[in-house]
Amino acid sequence: MTASPIPGTRPSLGITALGTYAPPRRVTNADFEARIDTNAEWIESRTGIRERRFAAPDEYTSDVGVGAVRDLLARDPDALLEVDAVICATVSPDALMPSTAALIAMQVGLTGAAAFDLSTACSGFVYGLSVAQGLILAGTARRGLVVGAEALSKIVDQDDRNTAILFGDGGGAAVVGPVPQGYGFQHFVLGADGAGGSSLYLRCAAPRLPGGFEMGETVGMNGREVFKFAVRVLGDSGNEVLAKTGLSSADVDWLVPHQANIRIIEAACERVGMPLSKTVVNLGRYGNTSSATVPLALREALDDGRIRDGQQLLLVAFGGGLSWAASTMKWWGGAPSLVARAEREAVGV
Ligand code: COA
Repeated sequence: MTASPIPGTRPSLGITALGTYAPPRRVTNADFEARIDTNAEWIESRTGIRERRFAAPDEYTSDVGVGAVRDLLARDPDALLEVDAVICATVSPDALMPSTAALIAMQVGLTGAAAFDLSTACSGFVYGLSVAQGLILAGTARRGLVVGAEALSKIVDQDDRNTAILFGDGGGAAVVGPVPQGYGFQHFVLGADGAGGSSLYLRCAAPRLPGGFEMGETVGMNGREVFKFAVRVLGDSGNEVLAKTGLSSADVDWLVPHQANIRIIEAACERVGMPLSKTVVNLGRYGNTSSATVPLALREALDDGRIRDGQQLLLVAFGGGLSWAASTMKWWGGAPSLVARAEREAVGV
């Protein structure tokens, strides 16, 4: 199998390496119960979350992202060869300037690569895959590194029971590059609706206050509105991307959804027509890590052998914006960087 496209055809692109990182500190529902007006049983039954990870006080989003890239390199030391674009999807950047992507690139030996942050909150990783694909197809980049990384514990009010119990910290990093024909990305559906912006928000350094609502320095959320939106767009975007690909839910081996709330995932499964048994769910142990949930779920299902080469995947995500992103892909878990090296050696470069 070769990664080179047939001349005149569009190259097949997909995820050629995937790494993840979650900070070691576990925060359980009981920890919240001991501190604020909530109870562990309520949290688990209303969200499916049992525990989440919190970054250390001196550990920021770029560190979390670098942790994910190091995991990727431990699995495939050549994975970053030819990467010349770094995209960091995050809603908890180290700073607005410099970009977290530039900080990550510097620390993993990719100084000089294009680097920028992408702000679509929890849809960010799937958005980022599509952006990397576009850069490669346009000839701007050879391979892209897409990092979904968050240190949400630093931007969520840990005394606000509406939000504190939901979010955790973590990261995922994927290299996007050539894969054998017939594998990799098939279609993407991306969207946003700023009218829902007031349901999930965080102020910036020069805040404009649309709709006359106050934005604070920690995440604000209308949980019920987000819930309704999430169920609708996960179902709609999932069905739309399946139709674009010419598939039905019966063709899908695994649904990999954004992990926000088990009740949202169950409702989305119903709308897409997928059973929960074919859906990757790990939010019980990580909570909502925003742009990191999809790669964390994907990596876990690859490691435990649920997802295998040639299987049909459907990724669906939603988040602040409000935004949504869905993707179909046929998984290929070979080691494309080794293919690339063999090709280079064959032509003596
Ligand atoms: N602990 C205990 N009780 C809580 C609570 C908590 N952490 N949070 C809310 N409650 C209470 C409410 O005060 C309310 O009490 P009342 O009936 O006496 O008024 C009751 O539980 C039900 O509140 P409600 O807001 O209707 O709960 P819910 O079933 O909608 O669940 C969320 C709340 C936040 C879990 C749910 O709306 C949700 O997951 N929304 C989506 C949020 C999300 O995914 N955000 C990130 C998007 S990327």
